[in-house]
Amino acid sequence: MRTILLGPPGAGKGTQAETIVKEFSIPHISTGDIFRSNIKEGTSLGKKAKEYMDQGLLVPDELTVELVKDRLLNDDCKNGFLLDGFPRTIAQADALEGALKSMNQHLDYVVNIEVDSSLLITRAVGRRVCKDCGQTYHMTFNKPSKEGICDKCGGELLQRKDDTEETVSKRISVYQEQTAPLIEYYSNKGILVNINGEKPIAEVGKDIVAKLRGR
Ligand code: AP5
Ligand code: ZN
Repeated sequence: MRTILLGPPGAGKGTQAETIVKEFSIPHISTGDIFRSNIKEGTSLGKKAKEYMDQGLLVPDELTVELVKDRLLNDDCKNGFLLDGFPRTIAQADALEGALKSMNQHLDYVVNIEVDSSLLITRAVGRRVCKDCGQTYHMTFNKPSKEGICDKCGGELLQRKDDTEETVSKRISVYQEQTAPLIEYYSNKGILVNINGEKPIAEVGKDIVAKLRGR
């Protein structure tokens, strides 16, 4: 199954990706995670991406599109993939369509997680991420058993640099301008699935899996 996860910052894309990739045995491709690991490793891509990410701006399409195209050529994508956070512009969506066409493939679904703007800032600002394994928590909605410590690996939980109230607000307005037009783009192609992302985490996961299984 070839699927995209769409939704504003803090909608729960990364959280739900965990459930989807387990359920359908497909790789999780998050452009945000790829950029963050490049930043951690100090690569030249990481250095360039950081300039934009710290300000809540999109990394330019020239840096993003080739990265995803290369990733889709990996063997593990043969039977499907879950793209999380890509595409984010119409130009990226067109480039993806072209790349898939050249591989004789097409998208099956675009899952659009809908969450009211008023909830997004609370979600993103309260997010904590394990510095070792990347597991995501929330200080109110998805707490670890011990404050500040990852349940999975015991690693320290940190706040993402772009999760300050100011940067999150910027990311939300960038989403409205540049990414939200993709909702109509994919709706016109008849592959958009809308999901209410305001329910508890487990319920949202069940709703997504049911829709993707055609129930
Ligand atoms: P990226 O990492 O993709 O960030 P994002 O899209 O802003 O999304 P988030 O990771 O903030 O949120 P999410 O929807 O995954 O929410 P989560 O599940 O963590 O991108 C970061 C940056 O990289 C961009 O700003 C840009 O600069 C660059 N970039 C990436 N891709 C790019 C591209 N294609 N082109 C150009 N630039 C690109 O959940 C959030 C919190 O809420 C968590 O704490 C979670 O526990 C909690 N939560 C989740 N679901 C629920 C629920 N149902 N109820 C209560 N709490 C919940
Ligand atoms: Zn961990």
